[in-house]
Amino acid sequence: MSHEEDVPEVQLFHGTVVHSTASSAADVLPEHVLVVRRGRVERLVPARQLSDQLQRLGGTAEDVVHLEADQLLLPGLVDAHIHPCQYPNAGLALDLPLLEWLQRYTFPLEARFRDEEFAAGVYETVVERTLRNGTTCASYFASIHRPATERLADICRRRGQRALVGKTCMDMNSPADYCENTDESLQETAAFVAGQLRRRCSLVRPSITPRFAITCSERLLNGLGKIANQHQLHVQTHLNETLPEKALVAKLFPAAHSYTDVYQRAGLLGPRTVLAHCLHHDEGELQIMANSGAGVAHCANSNNSLRSGLCDVRKLHEAGVSVGLGTDMSGGYHPSVLDSVRATLHTSNVHAIHRDDYEALTFRDAFRMATLEGARALGLDDIIGNFEPGKQFDAVVAHVGHEESNVDLLTPHSHDELLQKFVYLGDSRDICAVYVAGRQVVSNPTQEWSKSGG
Ligand code: GUN
Ligand code: FE
Repeated sequence: MSHEEDVPEVQLFHGTVVHSTASSAADVLPEHVLVVRRGRVERLVPARQLSDQLQRLGGTAEDVVHLEADQLLLPGLVDAHIHPCQYPNAGLALDLPLLEWLQRYTFPLEARFRDEEFAAGVYETVVERTLRNGTTCASYFASIHRPATERLADICRRRGQRALVGKTCMDMNSPADYCENTDESLQETAAFVAGQLRRRCSLVRPSITPRFAITCSERLLNGLGKIANQHQLHVQTHLNETLPEKALVAKLFPAAHSYTDVYQRAGLLGPRTVLAHCLHHDEGELQIMANSGAGVAHCANSNNSLRSGLCDVRKLHEAGVSVGLGTDMSGGYHPSVLDSVRATLHTSNVHAIHRDDYEALTFRDAFRMATLEGARALGLDDIIGNFEPGKQFDAVVAHVGHEESNVDLLTPHSHDELLQKFVYLGDSRDICAVYVAGRQVVSNPTQEWSKSGG
């Protein structure tokens, strides 16, 4: 069945709605009705208007989903940076620093994705797992192989996950069996992009994906910048993750003024670019990032697990850079954005422990980064990130403390407290339904939930 066929003409969700807006990192709205038409948010109004809305739409009581008192309707979670081809290594092999970790564990695993069937099996599992954990939109770094990457895009379309999908590019400093030549990398990227654009699928879009400057020649970066600008495509890469990486880039690109300048020169920085990590920039690089409108994927679990460093999110914010959250699995060991939220808060707390003048991020800040700001970092905030009218209905129904949950609620809690419980303690068991563009893509069998009523 096509995506559109799965989407009801009208859906009304009645209950507590939470989202980030321009004025509030987490606006908690009990007793509201969210009107969704053909997969898009039409309006968000107080529940006393429910019958008026039904009348206006010519709907019936059947079109209304009544959330239970302790359920929350949240925007879908955005994973701004994830390597689905590294999932078999999740939780493994975190004993080496980045550059050695890549050579020893990561490149050999990714090389196996030349086997399309192996790749399809892993990708199917990743899309299933991340959807169950509430990831309605992911920016995927696939392997260098076009056929396997096309399978990933197909799986996202079929399962109904919104995604930016990139065929990773690398033409130097890579193992012989996991390396492309420059022309091949450009041709395969162009073919991948053409194939995806031909489908005119708004859910899954191609992303230009130079792995990072160490594995990409100047000619490859320039060629990728050209393709990106020709079609106004999304771009994703890694930047300033570790100090040894930064030092090697300086050696490899002596004409560039900085690591960030390497990408700027190639025309790879813009409002549709997301830069993973960004820990070790200087002031000049920060200005380039801010002026370009590029977003950052903050990958706190990975930064801690590989001991890459502590990203200062406040400083990025002060410079005007949008910061989304990335699991960076398997540099980060967990595929859930909720884990990224927690690692983000812990990292921010470490800054605050060490510096008297540092104001730690709040759970609300992290919630915004996992939703609206993540969408902005990916250049997708015109279509997702919150429940503003006109946006796609990408949503999670959270229900902490129900029978199968791992969370115990021992006293009555406000909706704001339920949000905190979900953010700090929740997992896939506490998610009873997930929607992407109005289509229900996850239904948790352990919780009572159906398309016609909660
Ligand atoms: N830098 C280049 N490739 C990678 C990768 O796969 N993971 C991480 N964390 N950093 C990278
Ligand atoms: Fe990464």
